[in-house]
Order: sequence, then C-alpha cells, then structure tokens
Amino acid sequence: MRITVIGTGYLGATHAACMAELGFEVLGLDIDPLRVESLSEGLLPFHEPGLPELLRKHVKSGRLRFTTSYEEVGAWGDVHFIGVGTPQRAGEGAADMTFVDAATISLARNITKNALIVGKSTVPVGTTRRLKALVRDNKRPDVSVNLAWNPEFLREGFAVVDTLTPDRLVIGVESPEDELTLREVYARALGRDVPLIVTDFETAELVKVAANAFLATKISFINAFSEITEVIGGDIGTLADAIGLDARIGRRFLNAGIGFGGGCLPKDIRALQARAAELGLERSMRFLDEMDEINLRRRERAVDLSRVMLGSLSHSKIAILGVAFKPNSDDVRDSPALDIANSLFEEGAEVTVYDPAGNVNASKRSPQHHYVTSMEDAVKSADLILVLTEWDEFKALTPEGLAAQTETRKIIDGRNILQTRVWEDSGWSLAALGHRYPPEHATEEPLGEQLQLSSGPAA
Ligand SMILES: NC(=O)c1ccc[n+]([C@@H]2O[C@H](COP(=O)([O-])OP(=O)(O)OC[C@H]3O[C@@H](n4cnc5c(N)ncnc54)[C@H](O)[C@@H]3O)[C@@H](O)[C@H]2O)c1
Repeated sequence: MRITVIGTGYLGATHAACMAELGFEVLGLDIDPLRVESLSEGLLPFHEPGLPELLRKHVKSGRLRFTTSYEEVGAWGDVHFIGVGTPQRAGEGAADMTFVDAATISLARNITKNALIVGKSTVPVGTTRRLKALVRDNKRPDVSVNLAWNPEFLREGFAVVDTLTPDRLVIGVESPEDELTLREVYARALGRDVPLIVTDFETAELVKVAANAFLATKISFINAFSEITEVIGGDIGTLADAIGLDARIGRRFLNAGIGFGGGCLPKDIRALQARAAELGLERSMRFLDEMDEINLRRRERAVDLSRVMLGSLSHSKIAILGVAFKPNSDDVRDSPALDIANSLFEEGAEVTVYDPAGNVNASKRSPQHHYVTSMEDAVKSADLILVLTEWDEFKALTPEGLAAQTETRKIIDGRNILQTRVWEDSGWSLAALGHRYPPEHATEEPLGEQLQLSSGPAA
C-alpha cells in the first residue's frame, strides 16, 4: 500500500514520517516548494522532538519522499491523507476551508487509479459529506475514489509518540472496505490494543472538536477560579489538586496560568461555535464564548500585574522567558505569551524575548521585540521578568541562580511553575497567576483595601 500525505506542516510531516516508520512507502506533498525542498533534504522546518531523526532515517532509506506535484501523487498513491491547515478565517470565528477544498479538488482531478482519501485536518461537522460531492464532481469517471475521516489527536511536543502509539483511533467510514484499508494502515497500533472507534463521518469530525472544546473548558474552568482566588485568597494549585483527585474530574488540564493558545484550541472552539450557529444552534455552544473570554482575560491579567509591579510600563525593560504556546514546540500561533509581549510593548515597554525554540517564528510575527539566544541575555538588564512557557529550563530556575544574572528581583510566573514562598523568602517579589498580589502574608490590609486588578483591556 502506497501512502501520500497532502500538507506537510506539524501534522502532515509527522504523519508522513511515522507512516514510513511503520514500513509504508510514503510521498508527502506541499504547495510550499521551500518546505518540500527542506523536507526532501531531511531537514525539518519546525521544532518537534524525535521527528528530525525519523525524517532523516526514512528520506535516506528512500521510503519517504516529498513533492509539489499533484499529478505524481494522484498517479502513485493508494491512500491519500489530507493534513492541510484549517485556520480561523480573517475577522470571523469560522474555519477557513479553502486549503482543504483546494487540496481535495486537486487530488480528485489527478487520481488515476482507485483510491481512498482520508481527511485528518480538523474540520467543521458536515465537511466530509460536502467533500464527497466535490470529489464526485472532479474525479475521472473511470476511477473509484472513496472518502473517510480520521481526526488527528497528536500533541505538539509529543507528536511522534502520539502518532505511533495513539491513545485511540477514530475513523469515519461509509464502507467495510474502507474500514479494512484503514485497519491495515494502523495494523501495528491495533495489534497493541489501541482502541479503534469506527463510526460515521459526522461523529468522527465531531470527536476532534468536542475533545478540544472539553480541554479548553477545563483550562478556562480553573482559570475562572483563579479570578476568585486572586481576589479572596486561597491556593489555586491546591484547589486543582483536590478536585483533580476525583477520578471523574482528573487533574490534567487544570493548571492555572495565562491560558491556552496555539494553532488548535482557540480556533477550534471558535469554529465550533460558528458551525453551531450555521446549524441554527448558537445557544448549544455559547458557553465556549465564555471559555474564550476567560482565557483571553488571563493575558490581560498578566499585563495588569506587570503594570502594578513596575508602577508604569512606559520605558520599562521587560524580559519574556518563553514565547512558544507550549514547551517543546516552536509554534507561536495564537501564543498567549506573544500576545502579552505585544500588549506590554504597546504600553511602552521594551521587550526582550528568549525562547529555546520559538524565537524565529515569534520574530516573524512580532519583529518589534528584541530576540536573544540565552536566558542570561534576556534578563540581564530587565526591570521585570515574565515566565510564560513551561520549558524545563524555566522550571529549573532558582531564585539564587536568576539573581546572579540580573539586578531585578521582580518576576511574574505565568504558568505556576515556581514555588512562590521560596522565591519570596529569597527576596524576590513574585506574582503568580491565580494568586493574590501582593500575597496575603505580605499585607494586613482588610480585603476591601487590597489590590483588585482591572479585568478590562490594557489601557
Ligand atoms: N498542529 C497540531 O498539533 C495538530 C493536531 C491535530 C490536528 N491538527 C489539525 O491539522 C491541520 C493541519 O495543522 P498543522 O498544524 O499541521 O498546520 P500547518 O500550517 O503547520 O501545515 C499546513 C500545511 O499545509 C500546506 N498546504 C496548504 N494548502 C495546501 C494545498 N492545497 N495542498 C497541499 N498543501 C497545502 C501548507 O503549505 C502547510 O505546510 C489543521 O486542521 C489542524 O487543526 C493539528
């Protein structure tokens, strides 16, 4: 069986390399010639642990190739995976389906032998049926081309492991033959008892967006409680631990902080609301609007705290540690950290950014900041330090270690990875998201007199 992968970004490049690792011959296609050139040389154009090795191995063995030619792909492949982007449409919440539609049409026009197209992109419910009509109208009459949907659950930073050993596989199919084909593709995982859900198109599409909506809700849920503990006191981490011990709730995704970002969760919950509205079901997904707002307010809170700690942001020097939306990734799409850096800059701060992997992507989007290649260079002349991505390098920070690199003793922990009391005892002023600032033990003022930060947009 020959496998092609259309779109070789975070999802597609990972899928292509992992399919080669499973023993298949694989041909990846992208419309970006530079990306194809780089991948063909075995060079991964983004950061993903473990993937460069896999890519090099299989490019070298000849099992994995890349092209920009739909003609080549259509004539060569038996199973065509589609992993192109579905970003948020400019100025709206809905998903931009132009890439999926264009890829499907190009593929259908160029397929010259019976084949199965398998969608992996995250799409609005109803897409597969719509694409089925597109394929029917564009394919050659003498070939049979079926469609299936197989949502992808990989996490950036763990993409290889998640692809080779997923926690579940979901396939939306219309025929037992297509199910069999996909069982063959995923035979190794299925042999290791990975659960397989075989369902219809609509359910398969919904599984992905429902999972992301749930995860976003968990993060915003704890962050809504952060807004309470920031005013009345209490420990948000202990609260999360205590409710997380209830097996029905679970502790994961209950970390209070600056909230979620990246190329998936924010746009997926907005696209889901937009799709529900199209279906006349706006109220069903309206709660996601609230989750989105809670999430975005966390970014404002980080800016408010910075203003309070410095008195004024104007002419201040701020070091941002971590700008990728999560550790072990260079992805800065809808990154809360980058958004915060931009807001601080708009209020007159000079921002210096250090991220172990995300600097290049961030500097393309926000060239107004200084980007440096070491933590030391970022913090050395800072008035305030913000830790915004939980890279191991930042988790390992100690008050003494950081004090040796900078004069300032002011730090904001946007991810709750530093032990507040330890830092305060070492003479630092530390503000953590989800915690009162100034901390309870630092003030005897009655509650009404204590600092309540605005939750409105940064002035
Ligand atoms: N990144 C993740 O962790 C992840 C996880 C699960 C699902 N997804 C979903 O997978 C999809 C892709 O996400 P991504 O992060 O890999 O995006 P990406 O932007 O990194 O990659 C998309 C790629 O598709 C290419 N492309 C666009 N139009 C094309 C066309 N007509 N033909 C061929 N190639 C084309 C682009 O050049 C780009 O290289 C999205 O729907 C996303 O929601 C992503």
